[in-house]
Amino acid sequence: MRFASILILGAALTASIALAPFPSLAAKPNPNPPPEIIDSRGAAQKFGATLKEALQQAMQSGGAVNSVAVCHDKAEQIATDLSKNTGMLVGRTSLKIRNPANAPDNWELAVLKQFDARKAQGEPIDKLEFFAVIDDDQGQKTFRYMKAIPTAALCLGCHGEHLTPEVDAKLKELYPNDTARGFKEGDLRGAFTLAKPLQ
Ligand code: HEC
Repeated sequence: MRFASILILGAALTASIALAPFPSLAAKPNPNPPPEIIDSRGAAQKFGATLKEALQQAMQSGGAVNSVAVCHDKAEQIATDLSKNTGMLVGRTSLKIRNPANAPDNWELAVLKQFDARKAQGEPIDKLEFFAVIDDDQGQKTFRYMKAIPTAALCLGCHGEHLTPEVDAKLKELYPNDTARGFKEGDLRGAFTLAKPLQ
C-alpha cells in the first residue's frame, strides 16, 4: 500500500513540475533542466568514471583479491566527496546487492524494476535515468534521481559468473550474504542513486 502511494505521489509531483517521467523517451527533452538534474547527472558521471579508474589501477597493481577492499573504501570515499560537493546524498544500489547497506528502499526498488523493463524494451542501459520529487518517510519533500550502471568486462572478476577461488573466498568472508554475482557483460548491474531534500 505504502509502496503504491509513494509511486503515485512521485508521478503526480513529477508531472506538476513538468518533468517527463521517461526523459529519454520524451518527444522533446527539456532544454533547460532544473539544476538538481544537471547536478545529479554530473555526480553520477563522476562517480562512475572515478570508481572505474580506481578499480582499473587497483586490478593492475594488486589483482582482483586485493581490489575488493579498494572497491569498498574507494566507493565510500567518492560518494562522501560527491555528497559534500553537491549537497546530495550519493550512493549505489541494485536488485542484487553485495553490501546490505546498499539495499534499495521502496522508491529505488520500483525504479530498478522500471529500468529492467525499459532495458527489455531495447533502451540502452547508459541512457536509463529517472527522477521525481517525492515525500520521504518523514514527510520531507525530496528530489530523487537514479542512473543505471551497466556491467562492463572490468566488473566480471568480482560480479561475474566465474570468480577465482581466492576472490570467491574473500567475498564470502566480507559479504556472507552476497547476491551480486552471476552478471554478464551488458547486464544491468545496478544504479547510482541521489537524493536532495527540498524546502
Ligand atoms: C575487485 C572487485 C570488484 C570489481 C572489479 C567490481 N566490484 Fe562492484 N563491488 C565490489 C564490492 C566488494 C562491493 C561492495 C562494496 C561495499 O561494501 O559497499 C561492490 C559493490 C558494487 C555495487 C553496489 C551495490 C552492491 O552490490 O552492494 C555496484 C553497483 C557495483 N559494485 C558495480 C560494479 C561495476 C559496475 C563494476 C565494474 C565497472 C564493479 N562493480 C567492479 C567489488 C568489485
